[in-house]
Amino acid sequence: MTRYFGVLLVLFACGQIDSLEAPARTFAIDYEHNCFRKDGMQFRYISGSIHYSRIPRFYWKDRLVKMKMAGLDAIYTYVPWNFHEQKPGVYNFSGDHDIVSFLQLANEIGLLVILRAGPYICAEWDMGGLPAWLLAKKSIVLRSSDPDYLQAVDSWMGVFLPKIKPLLYQNGGPIITVQVENEFGSYYTCDYNYLRHLLKLFRYYLGNDVVLFTTDGSGLPYVKCGSIQGLYTTVDFGPGTNVTAAFLVQRYSEPKGPLINSEFYTGWLDHWGSPHSVVSTDRVVNTLTEILAHGANVNMYMFIGGTNFGYWNGANTPYAPQPTSYDYDAPLSEAGDLTDKYFAIRDVIKKIYFQYKQIPEGPVPPTTPKFAYGEINLEKVNSVLEALDVLAPYGSIKSAYPLTFDEIKQYFGFVLYRTKLPETYSDPALLTTFINGIRDRAYVAVNGVTQGILERDKVMSINITGIEGSQLDLLVESMGRVNFGRFNNDFKGLLTNVTIKGRTLANWTMYPLDIDTAVINGLLSKTSGLNTCNFTAPTFYKGELIIPSGIPDLPQDTFIKFTGWAKGQIWINGFNLGRYWPARGPQVTLYVPVHILTTQANNITVLELEGSPCDTGKCVVEFVDKPILNKNPGRFVEEFTFDNRE
Ligand SMILES: *[C@@H]1O[C@H](CO)[C@@H](O)[C@H](O)[C@H]1NC(C)=O
Ligand SMILES: *[C@@H]1O[C@H](CO)[C@@H](O)[C@H](O)[C@H]1NC(C)=O
Ligand SMILES: *[C@@H]1O[C@H](CO)[C@@H](O)[C@H](O)[C@H]1NC(C)=O
Ligand SMILES: *[C@@H]1O[C@H](CO)[C@@H](O)[C@H](O)[C@H]1NC(C)=O
Ligand SMILES: *[C@@H]1O[C@H](CO)[C@@H](O)[C@H](O)[C@H]1NC(C)=O
Ligand SMILES: *[C@@H]1O[C@H](CO)[C@@H](O)[C@H](O)[C@H]1NC(C)=O
Ligand SMILES: *[C@@H]1O[C@H](CO)[C@@H](O)[C@H](O)[C@H]1NC(C)=O
Repeated sequence: MTRYFGVLLVLFACGQIDSLEAPARTFAIDYEHNCFRKDGMQFRYISGSIHYSRIPRFYWKDRLVKMKMAGLDAIYTYVPWNFHEQKPGVYNFSGDHDIVSFLQLANEIGLLVILRAGPYICAEWDMGGLPAWLLAKKSIVLRSSDPDYLQAVDSWMGVFLPKIKPLLYQNGGPIITVQVENEFGSYYTCDYNYLRHLLKLFRYYLGNDVVLFTTDGSGLPYVKCGSIQGLYTTVDFGPGTNVTAAFLVQRYSEPKGPLINSEFYTGWLDHWGSPHSVVSTDRVVNTLTEILAHGANVNMYMFIGGTNFGYWNGANTPYAPQPTSYDYDAPLSEAGDLTDKYFAIRDVIKKIYFQYKQIPEGPVPPTTPKFAYGEINLEKVNSVLEALDVLAPYGSIKSAYPLTFDEIKQYFGFVLYRTKLPETYSDPALLTTFINGIRDRAYVAVNGVTQGILERDKVMSINITGIEGSQLDLLVESMGRVNFGRFNNDFKGLLTNVTIKGRTLANWTMYPLDIDTAVINGLLSKTSGLNTCNFTAPTFYKGELIIPSGIPDLPQDTFIKFTGWAKGQIWINGFNLGRYWPARGPQVTLYVPVHILTTQANNITVLELEGSPCDTGKCVVEFVDKPILNKNPGRFVEEFTFDNRE
């Protein structure tokens, strides 16, 4: 009750409509009143994060309307540079990549936009949004004033920023503020010239009226390296933090102006092999209420997390990649479902805006229906080795010693490294890489027979046998580039030599694989006669999902469950849904959004890397109507430190 009273006082100090003449469409910082001023009137926002790159365009509207109905003033979205410029100078701003349409949609729905424009965004996204092709210069210092880095940034921003200029609030659009870089104070370079360069660049393309800002962890060292004059400093912190102390850190850099928590964590991220993160609604609501009682602006990270489709997940160090689901235990689930957390947050917002403005009434769009289509049979088609000619249409590259993915311009997925055994090893001989030499996992075979798996930082040696001249294959998988910290120049492939019994292997042939194109073009089929490998080799499986007839409103969203499968990648009708790894968890099911399904037969393609259940058990995957994101439900975590890793 006392707290509630305090909230109202603060609101009146900084939420009153004053009688000054209101100039049309302006958005600025009012330092004197520690507020924003929108159209001349004092303003503060309650916002939520949504990443358009993690939600199919088909569902943008559903998710945005649900955010609007929660009472949010604004959304916060991030721009992953590598999502739009996958090869230098080749841009994609259409389909799911159409950020302009996404921002216009938010505007139509009545949501303002806070834009994290990059170039670096973090976000548990491959390389924090930086394109892997930057690594063509091996010594490049990312996120610094390295001229090669800046040149790439300049040409990207020269294409991107002009697209969003018309969408700034001043120009009739929804964008009220633009974030430059992210948590730069946590990065080792502490390069103010870089921040100054970005400031000039953003001002050049966006003009002088837009509010530009930075975000850093709520500790003094972060704010010191992350802030410069001309970029408004904001902080980020999660539930359970001492809110007063956190905002004092912002005040160190910004003695006056609006208080802003740019990332208030509603949940937390996951890593393969660790328990699913869960943060209780009570903790979120309590700290949120406290933040608002400070009269602060707040963004909830995430409001809806979404999905790392395809190969887009990032990783932390020591190397720990994030799973396909980015559910985040957010108020809207990965599939856009309404949760108790959603309604609890809506209640907080309702109370805070009581007598000040109405949050939208009327029904909240319902959770979308899900359907359990049940089990479908899969059939083994070719192994990767058998399908090599269709998977590697551009041929191979030869080199005495291994080249990285980046050197052969393969940025995602898989490369097959092939050589010959230099002598006969009838007794087990140790095949060894060096620390961090395998990035990130290698499926090893001799003459097509599985020998074992090497894994970055975890398994550096395996024993193999074989006769001189046998074909040695290492199918190397990138599991996602490091997105946080100084090691985000995360080259992939074989980074060091491979030795056998201490002898350096040489004369490699490398096949960059374009699996997605082969899947989309339906090139994977069963070749008769070949059966050089068994079910433990990386192998494709295919099946068809038939949508039952006679049931109204099908198809619907679903989740796919891999009982008995180990690790791999799955496509439906050519759409790359992402990685599955139930053997490690915590994620067990993958989200299947309805828009990729047709009422005709739906083509399922699975690449199982370690071993399918098809030789011993049922060769099926199952479509279920509920997600399983925690393999071991007994291991929920509640209490942990939020360490500013967004
Ligand atoms: C851009 O991405 C969309 C998917 O969002 C895809 O359908 C389209 O083919 C891509 N365009 C180009 C030019 O690559
Ligand atoms: C929170 O931080 C403030 C400012 O540093 C301090 O005065 C206060 O004692 C702290 N509260 C708690 C509960 O630690
Ligand atoms: C299948 O793979 C396993 C594990 O590597 C191996 O022990 C077995 O000999 C293989 N079987 C055939 C028929 O290749
Ligand atoms: C390799 O084989 C040797 C001899 O059988 C054994 O001592 C050693 O532990 C094995 N190493 C690994 C990594 O499997
Ligand atoms: C691999 O070994 C060769 C021969 O010893 C050496 O010249 C080369 O530098 C090594 N490469 C790496 C990445 O260590
Ligand atoms: C690599 O191949 C060349 C020519 O085929 C051969 O002379 C050389 O010995 C091979 N190197 C190794 C280390 O096997
Ligand atoms: C499924 O694959 C077949 C054969 O490649 C193709 O003709 C069909 O169009 C595909 N269906 C869908 C829905 O993509």
